[in-house]
Amino acid sequence: MRIEIPRECERIGSLQIYGLQKVYELDAGEGIHGQDTVIERIPSEVLYDRMREMAIVVPVKNERLKLIEGVLVGIPSPCQVIVVSNSPRGPVDRFNLEKEALENYGKFTGKKIMVVHQKDPGLAKAFVDAGYTELIDEQGLVRSGKAEGMIVGTLMAKWLGKKYLGFVDSDNYFPGAVLEYVYEYAAGFAMNGSTNTFVRISWHSKPKIMESSLFFAKWGRSSVNSNMMLNRLLTHFSGFETEIVKTGNAGEHALSVDLALKLEYAAGYAVETHHFINLLEKYGGIIEPDDPKALQEKITICQIESRNPHMHESKGDDHVEDMIDASLSVIYHSPLCPELLKREIMENVRQRRGEESPEEIAPVRMYPSLSKLDLDTFLAGCDEALNFGATTIRA
Ligand code: GDP
Ligand code: CO
Repeated sequence: MRIEIPRECERIGSLQIYGLQKVYELDAGEGIHGQDTVIERIPSEVLYDRMREMAIVVPVKNERLKLIEGVLVGIPSPCQVIVVSNSPRGPVDRFNLEKEALENYGKFTGKKIMVVHQKDPGLAKAFVDAGYTELIDEQGLVRSGKAEGMIVGTLMAKWLGKKYLGFVDSDNYFPGAVLEYVYEYAAGFAMNGSTNTFVRISWHSKPKIMESSLFFAKWGRSSVNSNMMLNRLLTHFSGFETEIVKTGNAGEHALSVDLALKLEYAAGYAVETHHFINLLEKYGGIIEPDDPKALQEKITICQIESRNPHMHESKGDDHVEDMIDASLSVIYHSPLCPELLKREIMENVRQRRGEESPEEIAPVRMYPSLSKLDLDTFLAGCDEALNFGATTIRA
């Protein structure tokens, strides 16, 4: 792969946020890893080395089997796949259909696929025993939601001994785009060292039909809003206006497992924006960190612009509005958020919601960092529960 080196960088405490990096060649062949002025060439074997240590988590809820299979087709073979499903088990057992389809697919490819159901009682028990009860609902099972599925996926990656963790949604129509995301995750780790790197993808374009012809939109409404407010927040602290954040709510992202275990997770669709906020809270040196040693570490956010168009299942306007609210809520309720920005966020909510807008945007549920969970107990619980029952593991 050939990628440009970052042009800009914002430094806040021990966090550095790189500007968007363009990809110049998806596959640059084998050979020497090096920089030629502003382009870094990362040979394929270096990418594969990272992929061998990477788990790709695919969250699933009620997606069409053909779409899920397409996503798996795109994940390069060195990666471990972890499918976390929250599809219903009745009246039609959708999860069983998914499992059968994936097992069958696994036979043809020999791919390393692990499938786990979010509502697996053994999994819930491992969380309870490890003292992470925030994730458990009234039925005693893991709560529903994408972020909740991501937490499960993160811990599965740890259980399988992986070093890196990437996420790709299961409703992506283009296997080629998925393949590209994983290459870019690997490239981000290859360019920035392994332990404290966070790679976030900004799609080059999203195809839409406008007046019966194809139009390649650059920004979705949801990303426009969260990027704008995150940039305002950075501007507030640096005193210099910035537009560096392009991936505030990027669903396609990857990070080291160690870093993933240190971060808080906001419920549902606020998770990606909150990761940004939580990095600023923990490493920005703006508020007192819970762990003062954190400020000695260097954390890098690397943003890469993908080349394939991104096309996923359309889930309607209400869904987009809810996603915007969730993203803005985590910014609003952060101890970092200044009064001025809070007012701007509420203005934004009022413009979009009109009559229905609340006095104050509701907070979203927040899950504490996984460092609170007793990892050894949890992993022992997984050994016990996950080798049978609702879960399949292929070597
Ligand atoms: P969007 O792409 O951000 O608009 O959101 P989607 O509705 O497409 O959801 C993103 C991904 O999360 C998709 O792959 C969904 O199938 C998956 N997903 C949604 N809700 C859940 C859930 O409760 N649990 C799990 N495990 N996955 C979910
Ligand atoms: Co989607």
